[in-house]
Amino acid sequence: MVETRIIDGKGFAEELRKRIAGEVADFRAATGITPGLAVVLVGEDPASAVYVRNKGKQTLEAGMASFEHKLPAATGEAELLALVASLNADPAVHGILVQLPLPAHIDAQKVLSAIDPAKDVDGFHVVNAGRLAVGLDALVPCTPLGCVMLLKHHLGSLAGLRAVVVGRSNIVGKPLAQLLLREDCTVTIAHSRTKDLPEECRRADILVGAVGRPEMIRGSWIKPGATVIDVGINRVDAGGGKTRLVGDVAFDEAQGIAGLITPVPGGVGPMTIACLLQNTLTAARRLVGD
Ligand code: GUN
Repeated sequence: MVETRIIDGKGFAEELRKRIAGEVADFRAATGITPGLAVVLVGEDPASAVYVRNKGKQTLEAGMASFEHKLPAATGEAELLALVASLNADPAVHGILVQLPLPAHIDAQKVLSAIDPAKDVDGFHVVNAGRLAVGLDALVPCTPLGCVMLLKHHLGSLAGLRAVVVGRSNIVGKPLAQLLLREDCTVTIAHSRTKDLPEECRRADILVGAVGRPEMIRGSWIKPGATVIDVGINRVDAGGGKTRLVGDVAFDEAQGIAGLITPVPGGVGPMTIACLLQNTLTAARRLVGD
């Protein structure tokens, strides 16, 4: 039986936000410039509204400027593109984030491609995705960046470790695979069409759940002692009219098998916003040539 340790993403993210706040203060003192983050939310998706509120609050706490643009669900694509163009041109805005998902009548890829890559703090623009893939400096998607920070903090060098990422999204799975490759892991991207997914997962020293399916990854899929990173945030029925959050990994089953595991909530989630703040500071530094 392995002793399973819990990775405290919430505490790590708090420390990181404190460090960023200090760096923001130094940057402001040196340049007179306050890094600014613009967040665009289209529609009323309740989960997105919670994220956007938290982003705004933590941006201000870090000493940065926060610009929130909340648009009705019926907003047209042209109107959204015009807003992105004005944010691209606004010198007070160093980072632009368009909250996903967008309503179905808007072509999300078209909107993401309209963001100035230098202000693309989500790292979703094809220029940043391409730069990451070929090993150039890039703005890197926040959730994968947070996962790799937690892994390096707890494991040190990741070189030579076998990483299995379950999920192939542009937001998490694909960029995380690129980052793990950059850390010299042997990387597998598994997905819904993977043959014998449990067996594939059992080969992993680092197992990442990023599929958005509640508790799909079972305890028996985990190699004893492996490090498990759970990116899933799934709201499920808890009975009595209540709901609760669970990850993509069956957390209770992983106890006594995984060596290290991130909880949900309090694992990867808080790291995402902390990394967004970091990316905004990075973008501000590069834009003013600091
Ligand atoms: N929706 C869920 N996660 C994210 C994210 O990291 N960035 C944006 N823009 N939208 C999201």
